[in-house]
Amino acid sequence: RVVAASSVLAEKGEHKHFMAKEIFEQPTVSAYALGHYLNAERTAVRGEAADIPFDEADRAVLVACGTAHYACHVAKYWFERLARLPVEIDVASEFRYREPPLSRRDVAVFVSQSGETADTLAALRHARPQVRMAAAVVNVPESSIAREADLAMPILAGPEIGVASTKAFTNQLITLAAMAIAAGRRRGALDAEAEARLVGALSELPRLMAEALRRAPEIEAAAARIAQARDVLYLGRGPMYPLALEGALKLKEISYIHAEGYASGELKHGPIALVDPQTPTVVMAPRDALFDKTVSNMQEVMARGGRIVLITDAAGAEAAGEGAERVIRMPDCDPFVAPILYALPAQLLAYHAAALLGKDVDQPRNLAKSVTVE
Ligand code: G6P
Repeated sequence: RVVAASSVLAEKGEHKHFMAKEIFEQPTVSAYALGHYLNAERTAVRGEAADIPFDEADRAVLVACGTAHYACHVAKYWFERLARLPVEIDVASEFRYREPPLSRRDVAVFVSQSGETADTLAALRHARPQVRMAAAVVNVPESSIAREADLAMPILAGPEIGVASTKAFTNQLITLAAMAIAAGRRRGALDAEAEARLVGALSELPRLMAEALRRAPEIEAAAARIAQARDVLYLGRGPMYPLALEGALKLKEISYIHAEGYASGELKHGPIALVDPQTPTVVMAPRDALFDKTVSNMQEVMARGGRIVLITDAAGAEAAGEGAERVIRMPDCDPFVAPILYALPAQLLAYHAAALLGKDVDQPRNLAKSVTVE
């Protein structure tokens, strides 16, 4: 039965590309991960996510490559805020060679869609003998990384064929979010009520994702402008900063347009020099505690003739006023899940830009789905 389900997921169906199909599968496959990691009442985290001894740890070390690394970067904000646990993140190719000091008070987490990325596997092999536990967050349960870790956590996204990772990213985030909540409980940083609120917010994701995907026509219209650009800037603050990095990565991977992600507050420390009417800036900013600061960054861009694509919610669209050339309005959501939900418009923006340019979306030049050599 598992084989039959996988082969259904590996057909393109009505979509032109696997990437589009995989983007549109997110409301469905997110529910698989939520069903695995949340209890039936949607009040608590369960499964492997609750089995990691974060209460015996002084630090979590999160290691991965590419898009999976950006999932770790988002998770850093969650672990630090919800579990008061210091987190170090690194790309696997750096981690394995810089000989970081590790100890029995570290929990290490290796995140990999394929479970076969050579650098991530080598990093796991390096760290595992030194740490309290080496856990793996993987999409392929029989992969090398899953087999060699102390604990393998499936993300249950189903086969991902498009080289640019989409549904695996959001299911990695859901799995890491469940781990961060469980860590908060174990460390006494969250009570049962707080856990229930966060779990409730996560369980809204399939509905919110379906709603976000209904914005596809607006996103395609915005992508038509992006597709004409040579360079694009992506900005975000807090947990939306790694989303800016991921949005820029998606665009360059499949459309070959040069894109850079920055923390909004860093704009004035360099990237603002690039702003001109030909360089669009994509701002990813739900109306949260940091929103007003992001609006002032947008004004700095507009004052220099820059064009803005603002991805926000209803309150954000209202508060930002006129000025943004395009506003993509996401459904309102709990700020905790915004980095998961806002991945979808970032993916669609890159997808439509590349498709409009006639690029080989599923097999971009020079890239491999899984990099099993150094
Ligand atoms: C390759 C892919 C990326 C992916 C990265 C890590 O570079 O093109 O999309 O994010 O590998 O892959 P993994 O399977 O370890 O998540």
